[in-house]
Amino acid sequence: MAKSSRSSGADPAWRYAGTLDDVWEGEMCAVTLGAVDVVLCNLDGELVAYRDSCPHLANPLSEGDLHDGVLTCAAHEWQFDAHTGQGVNPASACLERYPVRLDEDRVFVGIEEDQ
Ligand code: FES
Repeated sequence: MAKSSRSSGADPAWRYAGTLDDVWEGEMCAVTLGAVDVVLCNLDGELVAYRDSCPHLANPLSEGDLHDGVLTCAAHEWQFDAHTGQGVNPASACLERYPVRLDEDRVFVGIEEDQ
C-alpha cells in the first residue's frame, strides 16, 4: 500500500494527478497540474512530488532516471535524493516539493492556489 508525504506550508489546493496505476513502485511520471509541471515518484510505495524542473537549467526531471532512491537529471546528471529532494551532487541543490495525498488509489498533489 502506498503512503503519501506532506510538506509544511499553507493549505494547498489538491489537484487530481492520476491513480496508483499511473506510477508503479520504483517509477516516476510527469503530470501537468494547472500551470505546474510535476514529477511524481513512487519510492517503494512512498509517493513524492516535485516540480518537474531541474534547479540547474530547468530540464524536466521526469526525463531522467530514478534508481535506488536517487533521481538523476538526464541533461548534466545532477543527482537528488528522491525521498527528500535534497541534492546529492551537488549537495547544495534542492528540489521544490509538493505534498501528496491518497484517496484510495487516487493521487492528489497539493499546489498553492496561485500556481
Ligand atoms: S539541467 Fe539538470 S543537470 Fe543540468
